[in-house]
Formats: sequence, structure tokens, C-alpha cells
Amino acid sequence: MAEDINSDWLEAGRLLFAGAIEFERGAAALEQLPDGDLPEIAFAGRSNVGKSSLINALTGRNKLARASTEPGRTRELNFFRVGERLRLVDLPGYGYAKAPRAEIERWTGLTREYLRGRAALKRVILLIDARHGVKPHDRDVMDLLDKAAVIYQLVLTKADKLKAGEAGEIANATRAFIAKRPAAYPDVRTTSSETGLGLDLLRADIAALA
Ligand code: GTP
Ligand code: MG
Repeated sequence: MAEDINSDWLEAGRLLFAGAIEFERGAAALEQLPDGDLPEIAFAGRSNVGKSSLINALTGRNKLARASTEPGRTRELNFFRVGERLRLVDLPGYGYAKAPRAEIERWTGLTREYLRGRAALKRVILLIDARHGVKPHDRDVMDLLDKAAVIYQLVLTKADKLKAGEAGEIANATRAFIAKRPAAYPDVRTTSSETGLGLDLLRADIAALA
């Protein structure tokens, strides 16, 4: 299955996420970003797709990032420090959110500025709900990242909600979708923060960047 990842990388991923990980700060404006002294991996995607839950699942820490059934939970850029190696960034979602319009515009603008112009940003993990596939908003973000030459990796979420056999199909369709996109990383991961599916591979992908 995971012919693209060997056991050394799986072990590196396991070790990276077994070490110290802590919330560092939330940024509501560009001036509040931390120094770009460590590589950053940012988690982006539509509201409610499971960004905060995936960070918790990857780190094995239930309440590190705040997750919620209500779309629009994360409203700042939240930085988590993984030892002395890297920072994970939990971004606010795009699309529908239960929040006042002015606030949505503020965090959406900030997120786009960050994605477009952050030198420390090494990869964007772009989450796609496995039940829904790539939506127009996702395409807009891919366009922005292609233009800015920021590498992004698609990760399918909530695979536990699929019927048996559906996961392979959606993963193949998603791979075909990104095949000709210049900044898309070719390996698409299928994950579930509920069951832990695919998390070891994603940890290995991230360890390769640390
Ligand atoms: P915003 O911060 O609002 O942009 O949302 P988010 O992308 O951070 O989503 P969040 O992690 O808060 O999760 C949204 C909802 O999806 C919560 O009710 C989670 O419990 C649920 N969820 C997240 N991941 C999974 C998963 O792998 N499987 C299932 N079944 N539910 C999930
Ligand atoms: Mg969130």
C-alpha cells in the first residue's frame, strides 16, 4: 500500500510526534506571527473539514487544537511547536462559517496573506472531505498556492464515514485531479482522525520536512 514510504520514515514520523509539542500562539494579524525560524506546515481547508481534529490526532493530544461541530471554530492562525524541529499551523477554514461576516472576512484575508507570502511555509496540508471531494473553494486555494509556488499535499479526511471500497475510488479521482497542478505533491493520503487511518503515513510525510 505505502510503497512510497519506507519503515525508516515511518519511524521518524512516529518519533517526531512522540516528542514535545505545545501550543505557542494564536495570530489574528500578520504582525503577530512568530519569527520564521522553523519550517512551518499549515493545515488548510473548508470550515469543518477536520483541520483541528487532524492536528490533535497526529499529535495524540486530544485538546491541543480546539475542534467543534460548529463550522468556523478556528478564527486565528494557531501555531504549535514540535520540539526544535518545526511548527504546525492550524488555519481558520474557508467557506460556510457560523460567524459575523466582518470577522470571516478578516480571518479569510489573513489566511490568504499567510499562504501567499510566508517564507517559512514549507508545505500546506490541504484537507478535503472524502465524502465530498474537491470543491470550487478548494480549487481557488490550489490556484493561489500554484501561483505562489507553495507545495500543497491533499489529505482526504473523515474516511471512516465512507462505505467499504469508496476510499480507493475517491483517492484515485483526487490524484487524477491534481496530476497537472504544478505545486501539488503527488501523494494523496486518506485519513480518519476517529480511527487513526493514514496518520502514520502523514506523520512520515511531515517528518521528511522537519
Ligand atoms: P474550522 O476550525 O471551523 O475551520 O473546522 P476544522 O476544519 O478545524 O474542523 P474540526 O476539527 O473542528 O472538526 C469539525 C467536525 O468534524 C467535528 O465535529 C469533528 O469531530 C468532526 N471530525 C473531524 N475529523 C473527523 C473524522 O476523521 N471522522 C469523523 N467521523 N468526524 C471527524
Ligand atoms: Mg479548526
